[in-house]
Amino acid sequence: MAEAMKGLKRTHRCTELSGANIGETVTVMGWVQKQRNKGGIIFVDLRDRSGILQLIFEESEIGSEGYAKAEKLRSEFVIAVVGKVTRREGAVNENLATGDIEVRACELRILSEALTPPFPIEENSKTKDELRLKYRYLDLRRPDLQRNLILRSKITTTIRAFLAEEGFIEIETPVLTKSTPEGARDYLVPSRVHPGTFYALPQSPQLFKQLLMCSGYDRYFQIAKCFRDEDLRADRQPEFTQVDMELSFVDVDDVIEVNERLLQKVCKEAIGLDISLPIPRMTWIEAMNRYGSDKPDTRFGMELTDVSEVVRDCGFGVFTLALEAGGSVRGLNAKGQAQMPRKKIDALVDFAKDFGAKGLAYLSVQPDGTYKSSFAKFMTPEQLDALVKAMDGEPGDLLLFAADKNKVVWDVLGNLRLELAKQMDLIDKDQFNFLWITEFPLLEWSEEENRYTAMHHPFTMPMEEDLEYLDTDPGRVRAKAYDIVLNGTELGGGSVRIFQSEVQEKMFEVLGFSLEDAYERFGFLLNAFKYGVPPHAGLAYGLDRLVMLLVKADSIREVIAFPKVKDASCLMTDAPNVVDQVQLDELQISISLKENE
Ligand code: AMO
Ligand code: AMP
Repeated sequence: MAEAMKGLKRTHRCTELSGANIGETVTVMGWVQKQRNKGGIIFVDLRDRSGILQLIFEESEIGSEGYAKAEKLRSEFVIAVVGKVTRREGAVNENLATGDIEVRACELRILSEALTPPFPIEENSKTKDELRLKYRYLDLRRPDLQRNLILRSKITTTIRAFLAEEGFIEIETPVLTKSTPEGARDYLVPSRVHPGTFYALPQSPQLFKQLLMCSGYDRYFQIAKCFRDEDLRADRQPEFTQVDMELSFVDVDDVIEVNERLLQKVCKEAIGLDISLPIPRMTWIEAMNRYGSDKPDTRFGMELTDVSEVVRDCGFGVFTLALEAGGSVRGLNAKGQAQMPRKKIDALVDFAKDFGAKGLAYLSVQPDGTYKSSFAKFMTPEQLDALVKAMDGEPGDLLLFAADKNKVVWDVLGNLRLELAKQMDLIDKDQFNFLWITEFPLLEWSEEENRYTAMHHPFTMPMEEDLEYLDTDPGRVRAKAYDIVLNGTELGGGSVRIFQSEVQEKMFEVLGFSLEDAYERFGFLLNAFKYGVPPHAGLAYGLDRLVMLLVKADSIREVIAFPKVKDASCLMTDAPNVVDQVQLDELQISISLKENE
């Protein structure tokens, strides 16, 4: 076996060959995509990461022994072939980069044989995800995944080069560390040396990068693995990668400016996309009011309309009671959907209920101008006309309304808007809409914990003009925080940080931390701030999400080599798994599983 490569040196990858090589003798290596024996002549499609090349085997050229070997070839055998590049004799294949040439083999070496794979190795496989992930090493041979991972590599190379050019220093921060406050559950690693204690895997390098600013590194970046034990979705994995950065002596606009040029560069290099700068900005409150979301997809309209004032004195209790309780009534106009069958409307109501709605009121404007509605009987014709007018309702339109606390109304209609856009096919998939969201609320009221929690994290700087409300009305304080959104996905987020201890202490007080608690958890950072700290700010992108959106994949699994499934397990390695008793004994850990109810 040690002889497998003896005397052989690959000269080209499959699609590095072209008409310009006609007449040359070349050596190519790869996997058999397909073998077709036409009796006296054998065609083989050879595949490597660059693409596919057609090989021809004829006994007169390769000899009887070589020909016999070629007859044995099956899909996924790994072979090396020496041969001559010629113009293709059969029909030119327009679909292949090498469609007008072929290589006529004069030597064949079978480097390894292969079992029949459990699914075909081809583009756009219809194979079930479970099977693909169990045999991920085969799945990764498929051209679409190879393209994705190669592009991912190109994107990280571009990012590294750009940031280095801009004076950022790449520094690695620890993975065995202490809990960071990003709001998700931590993954814990038991310590053998200190029995009963645990490291936490980082949810982000947040605290370390702030310390690096204290240490004078001025501009830091890292392509960092982060770990969060939270429910998985198409754009969430338990371990994922951030492009993380922090800058000293800057404010919001400085961070945004350098990041816009970074995004422009990446889009151009990765997919040839030109994005014009500056990227539009929208405040959080405007995003919520217009789109019901802090990550609006602006590739289509169908914005929310606040009709609270129009219905304040109407006879429909669902509306008026919500308003009396301090909430709002808002609507969506689904243009041209007046004929939507009752069943489909009911499905929308159920969809809305999944997001916390108590119901969804509707009114369709019939072609003859009359209304069909779930609440018409509670309103006068004049009130109905005013409502339809406020919604820009025209014959053929379907109007949908939610009444509740703002938070619920936004969430329900924001999600309904996306669902309707999908159903109505409103989204232009070729558009890339970047958007900054700014002026986030600093704090969020948590019903569960009965206290304010930080919307971003506790180190985010309040806006100077709102500082005075930190004591009196914390809910209205806005933060110097910003998110970058692409086509309705949160691509990244960051903030200007608090660097004055009195503001930081106030912040902890508002969050309900005692000073002792704060020092217990983040003492190293608070102490560091006492030794000279520059004003600083930063941002982190989800690299997986960025690549996913640029390659138009529908899940970050398509751009991660070895991803996990919904229950956070790996179908290929079977992680997580039980460990030896010896390992547990060393850690002085005993396991007592709770009965599953
Ligand atoms: P944040 O928590 O917003 O900020 O995370 C930054 C970005 O990381 C991506 N992301 C994820 N991607 C895949 N799977 C996940 N589970 C996941 N969670 C987050 C998102 C998100 O926008 N330290 C701060 C940044 C800062 O303030 O500088 C932070 O981590 O794209
Ligand atoms: P009901 O009087 O409960 O039958 O409700 C009349 C209509 O109002 C139905 O179409 C309900 O789906 C809808 N509805 C109920 N609660 C709400 C709400 N909070 N917001 C919007 N519509 C609602």
